[in-house]
Amino acid sequence: MSSTHFGFESVDEKDKARRVRGVFDSVAPKYDVMNDLMSMGLHRVWKAYTVMVADVREGQYVLDIAGGTGDLALAFAPKVGSTGCVVHTDINEAMLREGRNRMLDAGKVLPTTVCDAEHLPFPDGRFDLVTVAFGLRNMTHKDEAIREMNRVLKPGGKLLVLEFSKIAKPLEKAYDWYSFKVLPRLGKLVANDDSSYRYLAESIRMHPSQEELKALMHKGGFGHVDYHNLTGGVVALHVGIKC
Ligand SMILES: C[S@@+](CC[C@H](N)C(=O)[O-])C[C@H]1O[C@@H](n2cnc3c(N)ncnc32)[C@H](O)[C@@H]1O
Repeated sequence: MSSTHFGFESVDEKDKARRVRGVFDSVAPKYDVMNDLMSMGLHRVWKAYTVMVADVREGQYVLDIAGGTGDLALAFAPKVGSTGCVVHTDINEAMLREGRNRMLDAGKVLPTTVCDAEHLPFPDGRFDLVTVAFGLRNMTHKDEAIREMNRVLKPGGKLLVLEFSKIAKPLEKAYDWYSFKVLPRLGKLVANDDSSYRYLAESIRMHPSQEELKALMHKGGFGHVDYHNLTGGVVALHVGIKC
């Protein structure tokens, strides 16, 4: 029996996905409003930067993994045009349903699939771009998920991983206070759920640093990997090229 972490807790590997599902089942209806509140709108800037770096062109095939309520998929959809395709996926049905409702409200219908990033139901070399925003941190076997992302990319294809990362030292104290004192209270107040937001703060601390994730992506088959720190390292955008 192997163990892994769920926030600061050590849990059986087999149990982590179920616990993560519980978190997102609980937060799904309030996910978007909480994102805006918690990040003071900054998640929109981080995602806009990701969309800019993605540089999606007409006719391209894009896979958004752990796509949740669909911010990235929605931003890519008009860029691929009628000859391309954006596939919106997530392991959690409740999150995907919120995303699909938003898309329908925006007059968009995208192919949507419930799937686990560690076992992607797509053929080798299918996509020009794979993205995963704030999802990798929650996966049990990050190395397997990264290998799968590499497998479904075409040679020369690009993986973008937008994720919380290691913050710059001088900001650490204030960030810890905000994460452990303010976030869970905000979660309780808005979503009636403090524990999911405590998990968020803890899971960020357990996630690989910028350099560790870069090494993991190299190991997963990406010949070229680079990262861009955003907001003092609160978040990093890792760019991997399959070559
Ligand atoms: C914090 S949300 C991010 C949603 C969206 N990408 C965004 O940036 O707003 C994390 C998402 O990761 C999904 N997730 C967790 N583990 C996963 C896995 N193994 N495979 C696919 N999705 C997963 C969760 O269901 C959840 O919707």
